[in-house]
Amino acid sequence: MKKFKRYLITSALPYANGPIHIGHLAGVYVPSDIYTRYLRLRKRDVIHVCGSDEHGVPITFKARQEGITPQQIVDRYHEMNKKAFEDFGISFDIYSRTSNALHYETASEIFRKLDEKGEFIEKTTPQYFDEEAGQFLADRYIQGTCPHCGNENAYGDQCEKCGSSLNATDLINPRSTISGSTPVMKDTRHWFLPLDKYEPFLKNWILEGKKHWKPNVYGQCKSWLDHGLQPRAVSRDLDWGVPVPVENAEGKVLYVWFDAPIGYISATKELTEDWEKYWKDSDTRMIHFIGKDNIVFHCIVFPSVLNAEGSYILPDNVPANEFLNLENDKISTSRNWAVWLHEYLGDFPGREDVLRYVLCANAPETKDNDFTWKDFQARNNNELVAIYGNFVNRAIVLTHKYFQGKVPGCGELNDYDRKVLAEMPVIRKNLENSMEQFRFREALKEAMTLARLGNKYLADTEPWIIFKNNPERVKTILNISLQICASLSVVTEPFLPRSAARLKGFLNTGDIDWELAGTADLIPAGHVIGKGGLLFEKVTDEEIDKQINKLMATRKQNEKVTDSLPPVKGNISYEEFSAMDIRTGTILSAEKVAKTKKLLKLSIDTGIDTRTVVSGIAEHFDPAKITGMQVSILVNLEPRKIRGIESQGMILMAEDTEGKLVFISPADKIHNGSVVR
Ligand code: MF3
Ligand code: ZN
Repeated sequence: MKKFKRYLITSALPYANGPIHIGHLAGVYVPSDIYTRYLRLRKRDVIHVCGSDEHGVPITFKARQEGITPQQIVDRYHEMNKKAFEDFGISFDIYSRTSNALHYETASEIFRKLDEKGEFIEKTTPQYFDEEAGQFLADRYIQGTCPHCGNENAYGDQCEKCGSSLNATDLINPRSTISGSTPVMKDTRHWFLPLDKYEPFLKNWILEGKKHWKPNVYGQCKSWLDHGLQPRAVSRDLDWGVPVPVENAEGKVLYVWFDAPIGYISATKELTEDWEKYWKDSDTRMIHFIGKDNIVFHCIVFPSVLNAEGSYILPDNVPANEFLNLENDKISTSRNWAVWLHEYLGDFPGREDVLRYVLCANAPETKDNDFTWKDFQARNNNELVAIYGNFVNRAIVLTHKYFQGKVPGCGELNDYDRKVLAEMPVIRKNLENSMEQFRFREALKEAMTLARLGNKYLADTEPWIIFKNNPERVKTILNISLQICASLSVVTEPFLPRSAARLKGFLNTGDIDWELAGTADLIPAGHVIGKGGLLFEKVTDEEIDKQINKLMATRKQNEKVTDSLPPVKGNISYEEFSAMDIRTGTILSAEKVAKTKKLLKLSIDTGIDTRTVVSGIAEHFDPAKITGMQVSILVNLEPRKIRGIESQGMILMAEDTEGKLVFISPADKIHNGSVVR
């Protein structure tokens, strides 16, 4: 393997439009911080850069919702998130932001260089335009009826009711959220990055050269490359962002995913005048820490930009993580289903290491994982308190009790002592191997193996019993125990920095060289240790109940009342079920049945024929708005005359306890006549 001279660690720049939660921490910042702290302890040349991602539509959108400027939004969350990272000991060398001038310069320079090299394709495409507001509309700024579920307030990029992702042109009856008017299509010109052209480079660089990447990362890249890449627009019609830095580009800004990763470069420039050695010297090993939703941008788009620019290095590795769920449910900002860092610290002051520990021990390294408060409590009480904390406390208390806090000398070793001393360096080696491969859960386990070893050693040798008859033996036992404590203060530092520092205080040692960890030479005999204390404290049932109740209240709010749901009906056989012939169909037209309040006469394309269905939904739906929707229809229901009209089937609907009605629509477009079963 190549020997690198220095490391450049980047952590995904979080959007400055909301606070940080445990999912962010577990997926990106705890791993990147563990790795960086480890490298620093190994005395490698390393910098760790991060900052706020302050552009993009969600930020302008939130600003509009709150009636303030985008700058006010990003100012608020930049400060808040910067502080949250500090509070949790995430030790960036710089936490910058993409709204600062240096970043504008850097991003503009790279764009201009690509433009001068003729890398971009300029293309004109139609896009929704708000004539009243006089501006183009990003998908988020358009609302309309979801073609899948009939939700009248779906957004142009997504329906939050049924979860389908949409294009603005999919919406029925689109309207601008800025003026309320109906948007029109208008041509607009944009710059596209020709990813298709970069395919040969990417295939060679990733598929051939990056076989050591994590399977989830390599696999996602391979799938993108196998499907073939398309040119991607790197500009937008928006008034918030880095202006496109060429002539005739009024009203255009760089697409947020073009400028944000360049933020890593700007942050490095802000940090050091020597920034070029980190970005332009092939002896630098660049590593991007990100979540899985960022893979394509860090493995395909950004490297393509850097490569086309020509003077920058590319990432050596991108150890992206999967997602963390919370109590069996996806973390969601809009549903407030999250543990926010600032709220955690309010409830568990001074206990940021416990969260770091649990998030690392249970990190979503190879698959999505679940955070539960019960697991949090169990790991704290059974591991941190009962093993690590207990061992350290015993060793320190006994040293004070028998030797007035003076480290006793090590006497003659027996077989057990030798076995323990031999195991220590092995544990350290294993831990290093895991670290180098970005396997932080495994590395943490090794650190805990060392604590377990010490804890068991004391429990087995029982110095508190033998002191009366054999104080010489106790000297050896405590000497070895204190060496283990000192090793722990070194090897747990990347994971539990605050506790490691406190432990060093208890032991009254200064910094200890990593290379000494695992040996018996960390604290000399005669050294006077400090007073000691409790490294960790139990998490009580009350504390956990409080957190769980908080989440239950959130869930209740999200789900409304489900108690009044009708009871489940008696069982039916499969034959009985399959006697129903349910198909997908499209509503071709809808009109109110004259002189009725509730009835709509629908004409449905069932894929087999066009038929008429009379449905009692007129009070819930505007005929114009449901035309064009795809629905499910029971086609073999015996025809029946309603108000003189023959109804030839039934549309399937769901109705909640409050009488709200929605269509049972296919989650994706499918041919009419498809069988529902
Ligand atoms: N803001 C993005 C997110 O939270 C991450 C941006 S990473 C960067 O998903 F490299 F583009 F900065
Ligand atoms: Zn929908």
